[in-house]
Amino acid sequence: DTIKQFRRTLLTWYDENKRDLPWRKDTDPYHVFISEIMLQQTQVNTVIDYYLKFIEAFPTVFDLAQAPEDELMAVWQGLGYYSRARNMQAAAKQIVLDYEGHWPKTAKELEQLKGIGPYTSCAIASIAFGEVEPAIDGNAFRVFARLLKIEDDIAKPKTKTLFYNIVKKIIDPDRPGDFNQAIMDLGSSYMKAKNPIIEQSPVYEFDASGQEGTYLDYPVKTKK
Ligand code: ADE
Repeated sequence: DTIKQFRRTLLTWYDENKRDLPWRKDTDPYHVFISEIMLQQTQVNTVIDYYLKFIEAFPTVFDLAQAPEDELMAVWQGLGYYSRARNMQAAAKQIVLDYEGHWPKTAKELEQLKGIGPYTSCAIASIAFGEVEPAIDGNAFRVFARLLKIEDDIAKPKTKTLFYNIVKKIIDPDRPGDFNQAIMDLGSSYMKAKNPIIEQSPVYEFDASGQEGTYLDYPVKTKK
């Protein structure tokens, strides 16, 4: 069926073309956690060097939990949104103290940690633990709104639930983490916000607004 073909097409493209990013070398939950927090408000190209520096300075969740404040801030210097670094350390302390250093494996539990919201919990659970959870960020909104011509206003909170429920049916149950990351790569290349290259997209055959030429109308977003 169409959903299975979409998954196959997307993941075949991803396997051959995925970006070579340092946090994709393994699925260690600590590594996924660090990268996803950094990527919340910072571009991939900027995150690469900070990520490498960070895991060198604090190789394990125990090192992060025990890091002196000044050392933590020195490594974060320049990334901005400093509360992210403080929340990361608070989450690391929770992992060490409440979980004896063993990360919980579900998005539901991960969302209880400091600084981890619905998107980040689903990203970590899917990438590190293979939980079938769609990670809905700005990229996912844009990609699925365009593919499926979803007209709902993404500025409304309930639209996130709508997308989550739709993507839950589409996500590959065998490779949820790769599926989520393939959507991210698609959303930053062929299906980017400005100057997308829709006609060359690997999933053009599944792209309703692309075939119609109306892709720039998606996602629908009202100003609040
Ligand atoms: N943006 C958020 N998470 C990402 C990931 N794992 N890879 C690339 N871009 C991302």
